[in-house]
Order: sequence, then structure tokens, then C-alpha cells
Amino acid sequence: MNEESTAVDIAPRNPQQALPGDNSTAAPPGAYDIERIRADFPILKQKVYGKPLVYLDNGASAQKPQHVLDAMNEAYETYYSNVHRGVHWTSQASTESFEGSRKKVAAFLNAASENEIIFTRGATEAINLVAASWGGANLNPGDEVILSHMEHHSNIVPWQILRQQKGIELKIVPIDDDGNFLFDEYEKMLSEKTKMVAVTHVSNALGTIVPVEDVIRLAHDKGALVLLDGCQAVPHMAVDVQALDADFYVFSGHKLYGPTGIGVLWGREDLLNAMPPYQSGGDMISSVTFEKTTFKKSPHRFEAGTPAIVEAIGLGAALDYVGAIGLGNISAHEQGVLQYASERLQAVEGLRIIGQAREKASIVSFVIDGIHAHDLGTFVDRAGVAVRVGHHCAQPVMERYGIAATARASFGLYNTRNEVDVLTDALTDAKEFFG
Ligand code: ALA
Repeated sequence: MNEESTAVDIAPRNPQQALPGDNSTAAPPGAYDIERIRADFPILKQKVYGKPLVYLDNGASAQKPQHVLDAMNEAYETYYSNVHRGVHWTSQASTESFEGSRKKVAAFLNAASENEIIFTRGATEAINLVAASWGGANLNPGDEVILSHMEHHSNIVPWQILRQQKGIELKIVPIDDDGNFLFDEYEKMLSEKTKMVAVTHVSNALGTIVPVEDVIRLAHDKGALVLLDGCQAVPHMAVDVQALDADFYVFSGHKLYGPTGIGVLWGREDLLNAMPPYQSGGDMISSVTFEKTTFKKSPHRFEAGTPAIVEAIGLGAALDYVGAIGLGNISAHEQGVLQYASERLQAVEGLRIIGQAREKASIVSFVIDGIHAHDLGTFVDRAGVAVRVGHHCAQPVMERYGIAATARASFGLYNTRNEVDVLTDALTDAKEFFG
């Protein structure tokens, strides 16, 4: 460590590398400087097969701005240590930065308190935590959990395991041919037996935005809790868990321009403190003897072992970044790209968009007659275009449409109409090539 870096204040400085807009305040509407935003993402300068990278696989994982990379590097280079354990400078500095990220997540979701923010490895772990801990403690044979037909496997399988263990029933809300959540069917399914409604906020395979406010209101009328899978929602729209009146909300950091290995479970504090620990070990206990162990309250109750410290700090930096642009501005930009993409893609001969719900986030799934989605993905890759192909970890959606796979373009805050044109041209060439 050189002289200069040892002179850092005890509080790690909040990385202040250039944020888009005005460093700390959201850019005004209409001031969406796409070129400046793109310049913040080093990977977007990359060429693949000699062509500019056109990254349209943000639903699987988004790219990272320099601001996030710098924040993580700075942590490792200047103040890294384990958290909550040390009296020494680096441990205190790391703890402050790590807990600072928790506050940023609380503000991002408008949680009532940072005690409601639990860091997990990802959304999958967050859902497993709720199913195992809350479900294990509160569900009995015959109780019902409602899911939708659009769930990602990570919001299906944990509840199926609970069904095996506890004898609960799962009810599935159907979707129509456009991918709309069938609200009337949902309403009919609700009963006094319903204890949990666990649904996606935005479908990763179709882009459908589920009318979650109404889902929550009706569930609460029956005394059921609601868990929302927000993985595909938080990168595209502002989420206020108090305004929604949700009970649990989960998302992963890496789809929100943050690092992998970090996700969030938000839950109401009273619910969390009444839940048994999910995993056990260091840092989640108040006291341990060989006779008896007592546990801390949320959030530490659910964070056994050394957490993903620098990943949490990176997530905090990603929230600063997204916040500086403003989710309203991001949403407006992406909706423009989505509309343009929907129009251009439909003009490709034989192309069918799977999922045309009334309200959609910037995700377009499609098939082309006579060409397997994997062949499409491989073909457009040679033009530098990254799309996801397959069942998108949502096999029931594929089964609903009688298809094995789709190709999916999922747009993020840095994508442009020009990139839509590159995709469209590559698909037109694919149609010609495969006949
Ligand atoms: N769930 C992620 C996706 O939709 C990985 O691609």
C-alpha cells in the first residue's frame, strides 16, 4: 500500500467515478445520453468475429459498467477485509461499505428498514430461503400455494420440494395465448386454503408484466402472503415494496448491472423475525453453547458465514449507477427499443413473437418457421449478436405454446435501435440461409 492509499479516511469513500448524468442526481427526462452510457460499459467496445458485439442477452445477465468494476477493485485494493468481525481498520471500513450497500438496496426498493434486506447468493437462494424457512414453519398438509404458468424453474421447484415434504397443493394460474396472466382464473383459485401466492413480476421468457398490485390485494383479502420474483422487473422499472404492499420480493444483482453471486431477499421485518434460520453457522447467532444457541434478528439471522462482501459492494455501486440515470428514463428508453424491435422482427418472414401481452418489459421471444432456435442463435452469433436460445428455465411456458425453445432478445439500458437492425438483418440472412 502506498502513502497515498493509506491516507484514505476510515470510511471507505463512495466511489465517485463518473456516473452518467449529474454524478448523484437522476438525469432529467429526455436527457438520455445513450452514447455516454454505452461508453461506461467496457465490454461494449468488444468485437466478436470482427463485428461489434451486440449484446441482447440481458435477461440472462447484464454487463457491468466501469463504476461497478472500479468499486469492486477499490474495495479489494484499499480496504478489503472480512465484515462484522474485526476491530481493525480494514474490517470496519469493509463493514461500513457492505452495510452501506444494504442501505442502498433498502432505498432502491423503498423498504421500511435495512433490516428487511437479506443478502443471498441470488434470487434462487432467496426463494429457496422463503420456501424452506417460512414454508417449512407455516405450511401444513392441504394448504395451497399459487404460482403462475410463467414461473422460472427457481420459483417452481422449491415449492414442489415443499409439496413432497409437507403435503401442500400447488395451483397454477394459466396464461392466455398472448401471455397475459389470467386474472379471473386467479381470483377463482383463491380460497381460505391459499397461504402463499408466489409469482413473477415480469416473465423472463415472455416479457409479460404481471398486474402484481391486484394479485397482492386479492391474496391479502384471503389472508395469504405474496412473494414476487423481481429478477426481470428491477432492471426495467422502479419498484416500491411498500406501495405494492408485498410480503417478500427477490432479485439477483447480476441482471441489474451488478456482479454475480449476490442477490436480495426483501421481506417484512415482522415476518422475517418470526422465521427460523435457513442456514446456520457464524455471524447469525447471538450466543452459542453446546446446550443452546440463540439467533440474531434479521438480516444477520439469515446470513450465515462470510457473505459475498465485495459483490454486495458492487451491487451497491450498480444501484448508484442505475439511480443516477433514473429508472423512469431507463424504462422510457427500453420501451422505445422494445416497440421498434417488435415491429422490425415481425416483418421477418416466418417469424412469430411468443408473448404479446398488454404490458411488457423489454424482452422479445420468437421462433422462425422451419429453423431451430439453436440454429438461429448460432447463426446470429456470427454476426456478433448475443441472444439466448432454449427454454429459458421456463419449460412450462414452452409446453404452453407447444414449442421446445425460442430465441430471446432481452434489451438493457445500453441497447439501441441500430442494434435491433443488426439483429433483424442477421435473422433475415438466417431465413435465407436455412431456406
Ligand atoms: N433466468 C435467466 C434467464 O432468463 C438466466 O435467462
